[in-house]
Amino acid sequence: MSIASWIAPANIALIKYWGMRDADQVVPWNPSISMTLSQCVSHTSVGYAEARQDEVWWWTPEGLITPSSSFSANVLEQVRRLKALAHSSSSLKVVTVNHFPSGAGIASSASGFAALTLATCSALGLSTTAEQLSRQTRLSGSGSATRSLLGGFVQWPGDASHPDGPAHQIAPAEHWPLRDLIAVIDAGEKPVSSREGHRRAPTSPYFVSRQQHLPVRTEALRQALMGRDFARFADLVEQESIDLHVIAMTGHPPTFYFQPATLAVLKTVRELRAAGLQTCATLDAGPNVHVLCTAEDAAAVLIQLRSVPGVAYVIEDSVGLGPRQTSAHLF
Ligand code: DP6
Repeated sequence: MSIASWIAPANIALIKYWGMRDADQVVPWNPSISMTLSQCVSHTSVGYAEARQDEVWWWTPEGLITPSSSFSANVLEQVRRLKALAHSSSSLKVVTVNHFPSGAGIASSASGFAALTLATCSALGLSTTAEQLSRQTRLSGSGSATRSLLGGFVQWPGDASHPDGPAHQIAPAEHWPLRDLIAVIDAGEKPVSSREGHRRAPTSPYFVSRQQHLPVRTEALRQALMGRDFARFADLVEQESIDLHVIAMTGHPPTFYFQPATLAVLKTVRELRAAGLQTCATLDAGPNVHVLCTAEDAAAVLIQLRSVPGVAYVIEDSVGLGPRQTSAHLF
């Protein structure tokens, strides 16, 4: 076995995955749609370990460290699952670095588990179909990681009538070179994990009505995306982002991811749109705001975002091509 290294990107959901039909198999309630990013990536190398047990290392600005026990446990579990599939009893070494410009604070589990799954499969010589790879990636627990296996604009599951099916690319990155300016308000760990958020989602009295209107919204977003209709796209993306947080806030127990500066950024984005700029905002399970905009308007939006009180810094990203194998090994 040789070392295999992959670089996989994060993604931002436009239609959110929030709630699971089957928590063990990581099957979502509804299809989600995302935009794969370009700059926010995880780089992972997997190869033979001299130690008797699998080992996990993480490059940080302070050097190589052993990650927290819960993070290591999830990584080791994913490695164990893939080794069982490959009938391998070798000990594996995993080294990962997250290249998220300007530090932490943006979800790295999707990129991390996509890179880990790809690198482990390559190191083990495990050949998988796209469907098997999608399934093995989501079984890591990070369902959104399965969208990070593809570039451009992605729907998971691609076929709504097969909730446990794989992700599909709706359109390649070249279709619409949108930017994602990530206004970082708090780079700390979120108060409630996505896993717990998925568990709480169906306890909201609004969850059922969300599921009822989602098919229409999802189709409308697909059409806005295919037609590059920014006004329609912005309207749908913002409705959907607010829905996610309404479900979170009205669940039992309630979950609040917003911070005061989150609202200030949302207000600024609405004002910029009213002034004619092509921009809109969306949030995942956290306070930081992904401000989407066209390439033409990115510079003007960036200046305004930087001046919103409470915004620590802005990460400049854009739609990306998806994961790639690399010969740059981390050990
Ligand atoms: C709100 O279970 O995939 O980001 O812990 O980031 O892997 P991670 O979360 P996951 O849930 C993602 C929830 C979401 C919406 C989305 O990305 O669709």
